[in-house]
Amino acid sequence: MDFEHILQLAIEKCDGKYIEELDRKFYILYPFTTENIDGYIKKFHLKDKSLLTVGSSFDQVLNATLYDCKDITLLDICPFTKYYAYLKMASLLELNRDEFFRFLRYQNYPKSCKYNPLLFNKKDYQKIIKTLRLLDYESYLFWDELLQNYDPKTIRNEIFYANEEDKQSVIETINPYLSTDYNYEEAKRKIKKVNLEIIQADLFKVKLTRSFDTIWLSNIGPHLIHYNKIMEMIEKMNVYLNEEGKMLMSYLYNTDEAYCTDYYPIYNFRVTFEELKEYKPELISFISMHSIICNDNCIKDSILVYEKKK
Ligand SMILES: C[S@@+](CC[C@H](N)C(=O)[O-])C[C@H]1O[C@@H](n2cnc3c(N)ncnc32)[C@H](O)[C@@H]1O
Repeated sequence: MDFEHILQLAIEKCDGKYIEELDRKFYILYPFTTENIDGYIKKFHLKDKSLLTVGSSFDQVLNATLYDCKDITLLDICPFTKYYAYLKMASLLELNRDEFFRFLRYQNYPKSCKYNPLLFNKKDYQKIIKTLRLLDYESYLFWDELLQNYDPKTIRNEIFYANEEDKQSVIETINPYLSTDYNYEEAKRKIKKVNLEIIQADLFKVKLTRSFDTIWLSNIGPHLIHYNKIMEMIEKMNVYLNEEGKMLMSYLYNTDEAYCTDYYPIYNFRVTFEELKEYKPELISFISMHSIICNDNCIKDSILVYEKKK
């Protein structure tokens, strides 16, 4: 999709038109990650290695950056991914941590059940605009057009998933780069040295020209309702995984609770492990999003990991 077309989609969406194209799954943005990235990031060797990840919130990239990953490709189906990525990157580079939250948070900010009236505010936008323009001219054109013509609330509600934003303490807990001022400043310093590529594409169709040490596939797995589709995704991505590389095949929520496995076949672990046996998957568990949100510490989320042996 070219820039003009994507900008037109965003404009029509902000005008309140129904856009069939954007009605497809995952065609709008996640403002922040919805995974406990802190729970799994240390299971991967990212320092000076390469990473291919999905994630339209750009949080997977910024957390990997904090862990010294220097070569990151963000691949996502959402057409607005690149523009939001550079907006977030410019915000990180030019704002302090409080200003970053003030500029990018909307729901449950500054307190739970509140909406942030300073979302995308002009004063902070002026602080980042020069850097945004230098980082990526299309991203600058994209946000300038939207912010000049639509109010921040409309933009936020139309091209982002409206309800996918946790409260402040949760966002800080699950994102190491946002957990302290020190980590935030470290991410700011390190992002300047990352070799970053952003590709808007469907991972089932994309043809990449290189391979990676680590691949993160987020929680696309549970959204695939047939095992053959799960296998297709893993097989396709395995082609781009280096020898001795590791793939996060799927992030899985609440793995100690009973799921409707007809609807989410990947949660039927007996069948999943059988289907994926050639990959010898490992299930790694850690404190769940649910437990972080409810502060109860009793439920686990997990990742299914494949390690490519020589
Ligand atoms: C299942 S979604 C949920 C958000 C996720 N839990 C997170 O924290 O970022 C994961 C990401 O995968 C992307 N995605 C989904 N299907 C995709 C596909 N076929 N190709 C590329 N990206 C895809 C979505 O746009 C989204 O950014």
